[in-house]
Amino acid sequence: MSSTGRVSPTAHYTGYVWARNGLSDPELETVEGRVLFETLRVPMTVSALLGGGTLEAYLLTRHRAIDALLQRAIDEGRVTQVVEVAAGLSPRGLRFTRRYGDRLTYVEADLPEMVTRKRAALERIGSLSDRHRVEEVDALRDQGPASLGELAARLDSEAGLAIITEGLLGYLEKDDVRRTWRRFAQTLGRFQHGTYISDIHMGELQNVQVRAFRVLLSLFVRGRVHLHFGTEDEILGALKEAGFSSPAVRRAASVLQDDGDRAAPATGDRAAPPTGDPGGHLAHIIEASTA
Ligand SMILES: C[S@@+](CC[C@H](N)C(=O)[O-])C[C@H]1O[C@@H](n2cnc3c(N)ncnc32)[C@H](O)[C@@H]1O
Repeated sequence: MSSTGRVSPTAHYTGYVWARNGLSDPELETVEGRVLFETLRVPMTVSALLGGGTLEAYLLTRHRAIDALLQRAIDEGRVTQVVEVAAGLSPRGLRFTRRYGDRLTYVEADLPEMVTRKRAALERIGSLSDRHRVEEVDALRDQGPASLGELAARLDSEAGLAIITEGLLGYLEKDDVRRTWRRFAQTLGRFQHGTYISDIHMGELQNVQVRAFRVLLSLFVRGRVHLHFGTEDEILGALKEAGFSSPAVRRAASVLQDDGDRAAPATGDRAAPPTGDPGGHLAHIIEASTA
């Protein structure tokens, strides 16, 4: 994706949000993130006052819902390996490897500049090992160096694998999303069990506040945030076409509601997402498996 520079600020922003909500480590918090957060405080307050919710609630709800689904996949024995594509400054790999220790291999993947930064931060934290690594993967690359296929070939195909993306799909063109899903399904299909978990923007709720919220998001990333699919059926159809056998789309808030307190231990957080904030109700999560 040619937009590396454009996407990177959002990684700083989300990194700061995870940290300020007690989900992360200070090493994964950046000055850039803090400055961006403070810059967006006023428009976010206006959005919240207009009933549109805050970006922070949206992010926390989707992050916690992905945590909950991944935790369940691990606890149920389906998954012992995770590749988080476009991991950015997310602390998920750190929290999950701390919780599961030797029972889990967690590979964080991103573009080269972020890989260098993340690896250095995890090195300072003392978390890097064979079981917790940071590797270069370009989600749009079909094969060869820095492709998902090459990374996955070095994992244990006799065990289960989860691929996670968070905050990536919205920046990709629709055809790239479809190609990326096909690549993910092909890769996961080579493992004893394969699960894909991600957030997704869905166009079902097109009221004024939601549109305003997306405009804010787009301004924030200095480019268009794509709305690829209007309905749940379109998402499910595209996932099936990509090769997933049992896709599901759910509101992140309802994933958390169903999961109750289950999500809390692995996420280790002090702050739950604010349930009354409409921002939290906009996030949707995909969970899709290969047979
Ligand atoms: C919005 S950030 C999200 C980071 C993290 N997942 C989070 O939620 O905090 C988007 C991330 O996608 C990464 N990225 C952008 N294009 C990518 C690509 N083609 N392949 C892999 N990562 C990519 C960026 O470097 C950045 O770290």
